[in-house]
Amino acid sequence: MMNSLSKTRLYLATDSLDWMINRSIKQSLSLQDAVPISAGTGCVPSKPIETLYIHIPFCHTLCRFCSFHKVKFQETLAREYFQALRLEIREIIARGYRFNRVYIGGGTTTILEDELIKTIELIKSLTTIREVSCESDPIYFSEGNPELLKGLVDRMSIGVQSFDDAILKSTGRFEKFGSGKQQADYVSRAIELFPTVNVDMMYGFKVQTAESVHEDLLQTMALNPDQITTYPLTIGIGKNRKKAGCLAGDPHELWPQFLAVKQALTERYVMEFPWTFSRNFGQPVQNKYVLDGEDCLGVGSGAFGRFGEQFRISSFDIADYIRLIDRVKTATCYTKSLESKSLIQHHLMIMMGHGHLDNQVFKAHTGHSLWRALPLEMSFLLASGAIVKRGDNYQTTEQGQFIALKMFVGFLSGMDYLREQARELPLTSI
Ligand SMILES: C[S@@+](CC[C@H](N)C(=O)[O-])C[C@H]1O[C@@H](n2cnc3c(N)ncnc32)[C@H](O)[C@@H]1O
Ligand code: SF4
Repeated sequence: MMNSLSKTRLYLATDSLDWMINRSIKQSLSLQDAVPISAGTGCVPSKPIETLYIHIPFCHTLCRFCSFHKVKFQETLAREYFQALRLEIREIIARGYRFNRVYIGGGTTTILEDELIKTIELIKSLTTIREVSCESDPIYFSEGNPELLKGLVDRMSIGVQSFDDAILKSTGRFEKFGSGKQQADYVSRAIELFPTVNVDMMYGFKVQTAESVHEDLLQTMALNPDQITTYPLTIGIGKNRKKAGCLAGDPHELWPQFLAVKQALTERYVMEFPWTFSRNFGQPVQNKYVLDGEDCLGVGSGAFGRFGEQFRISSFDIADYIRLIDRVKTATCYTKSLESKSLIQHHLMIMMGHGHLDNQVFKAHTGHSLWRALPLEMSFLLASGAIVKRGDNYQTTEQGQFIALKMFVGFLSGMDYLREQARELPLTSI
C-alpha cells in the first residue's frame, strides 16, 4: 500500500511528465517540415520488413473518443478503396518489398468482408507471410460471417472497451454494438474461430472507478481471450481533446485504475507491458502491437510507415488516395525526418514497459550508455522512484510501470497529433 507522501510524489512526477510529453510532441512531431515525395522514392530494404500495416478507414458509426482515421461507411467508395488498396499491395510486392506479418487496422476492417477476404487472399498468394492480424468491432460477430475468415486471419482483435452497460451507454457504444452481455457472447464466438483473440478494453472514463474497472476486467478474463489490451483513454493535444475530454475522468484516478487492472489480470495473465496482458498457458503469446521500434511499411489512406529515422504518410483524403493509386500506383505522399532523440525516448518507453533498463542492450541499440544518452530522463526516473539500480542496470518499480503507461499515452497522443496535421496537408500535385 502506498502512503500519501509517495502518492504525492507520483502525481507530481506524472503531472510534470504529461507537461513535458505534450511540449515535446509539439516540437518533434510537427509536420511543418514534412516534404512531399514523388512515386517510387526510397530504396527497398534488403531484408523483410517486420510488419505491413494496412488501413481501412470506414466505420458504420463514429465513436466520440476515437481519433483514428475513419469516415462514415459508403459502400461504393469503400469498394473502390479496397480495389485501390489491392493495386497498391501488388505494386509494393512487385517493387521487391517483403514483410513477415500483416496488421490490418482501422476503422473497421471487417466492414466489407468479401473485399477483406479478397485482399488477404491476394497477399497470401503473392507472399509467404507468417501471420495476419485484424481489428474488428464486436457486432461483426453477430451480423457478419466471421467463419469465412477462418484460416485467413490468425489474430483477431475485438474492440469491446467495457462490458459495463453504463459505460457503453456513456460512450455511445451500447446502441451500436449491444449490451455487455451480448458483446461477451460475440467475443466467445470469435474465440471458437480464431487461433489468437485479443480484446481491447479502456479505462479513464468519467463514469469509471477502480472497482468498476476491476469488475470489467474480471469479466473479460472469464471469457479467456489469449490477449487483453487495456488502453487508458487518450484525449491528445489537438482538436480531438475537447470531444474526448468531455468523457475523461480525473487524471489522478488513472493510478488506482491501473492498479485495479493489474490486480484483476495478473492472477492468470502475464503483463507484457503495462497495457498488454497475455494468457499464461505455457507458450507465451507474442505482443503484436506495432511499436517495437522495427521498420514498418504502411498502405492505404492514412497509413503511416517508418524506416529508421524517416517517417512516411499516405494521403488522408480517400478520393485523393484512390486517384493517386490509379495514376501512379503509390500514395505515400509526405515524408518527415524524426529526431534520433525521439527514437531513443521511444526505446526508453519500451524498456520501462518491459520492466528493466539494460545498459548493454541499450548501448547495442543506440551506441551510448543510458546516462550518456538520456541524462535528464534518467535523473527524473530515479528521483520519482520509477526505477531502482540493480548492478549496472535498472529495474522498473510499480510506479515506473505507471510512468511507462503515461509514456504510452504520450505515444498515442503523438500519433493523434500527426493524424490531425496530416489531414490538413495540401494534396500533392502528382
Ligand atoms: C482503431 S480502434 C479499432 C477497433 C474497432 N473499430 C472497434 O471500435 O471495436 C482500436 C482500439 O483503439 C482504442 N482507442 C480508440 N480511441 C482511443 C482513445 N481515444 N484512447 C485510447 N484508446 C483508444 C480502442 O480500444 C479500440 O478498440
Ligand atoms: S473506436 Fe472503432 S468503431 Fe469507433 S470510430 Fe474508432 S475505429 Fe470506428
